Amino acid sequence: MLRLALPKSRNQESALEALGAAGVDVSTFSNRRLRQCLSIEPLSVSAPGDAGPEIREVEIVSLKDWDLPLYVEYGIADCGFVGTDVLEERGADLLTPLRLRAGRCRMSLISNTVLPPSDGAQIRVCSKYPEWTRRLLAQKPWGAEVFQLWGSVELGPLLELAELAVDIVQTGSTIKEHDLHELEVLAEIAPTLVINRAAFQRQRVALNELMARIERAGLVGA
Ligand code: PRP
Repeated sequence: MLRLALPKSRNQESALEALGAAGVDVSTFSNRRLRQCLSIEPLSVSAPGDAGPEIREVEIVSLKDWDLPLYVEYGIADCGFVGTDVLEERGADLLTPLRLRAGRCRMSLISNTVLPPSDGAQIRVCSKYPEWTRRLLAQKPWGAEVFQLWGSVELGPLLELAELAVDIVQTGSTIKEHDLHELEVLAEIAPTLVINRAAFQRQRVALNELMARIERAGLVGA
């Protein structure tokens, strides 16, 4: 049996698509269940094609993105899908063997003006990702005083709590609706497969086959 952590966020759709491609029967997946078992096209646990034991079911645990790396790092779940944004902010000792093509978005510098900050200025920046934001802005010719907000980060520059926000942009509709400007794309974000190191040693054959199925379906990007 494999236990797999699925994010509840925007990454859920691309993660489910990848699981479907990996042979998991996602047609019975329920968004309301915290844990559930789904059948999977048999995965060998020894050499592929061997007549040895097989995995025929996976247990899915649905988790908030911020909690997910911890569950995988501690081996509660063997693997899971989470955005690189969460990994950048939290840091986690995990294997990250593949990034999905679908569900990509970007971490951008957002302002209520089109003008970039002047060199030497001291700028207030709000973000849900303060640690990553500090790293992303470290080389700027202006200083950033970064502080954390937990929601609706766009309101920071909109109501002038901060001059700038660093936040996720996917379709761009949120910033457009609020007449904000995407001054710069700072990083790309991708839903990523994360694997517990010990689980990979234990289940190397099955996990490699799971990944191969996702790759064969053309769902993996650079
Ligand atoms: C993110 C981000 C923006 C929105 C951008 O929030 O904070 O508000 O998505 O997406 P768009 O460019 O497609 O409009 P998210 O939906 O992840 O929810 P959250 O505020 O709960 O983190």
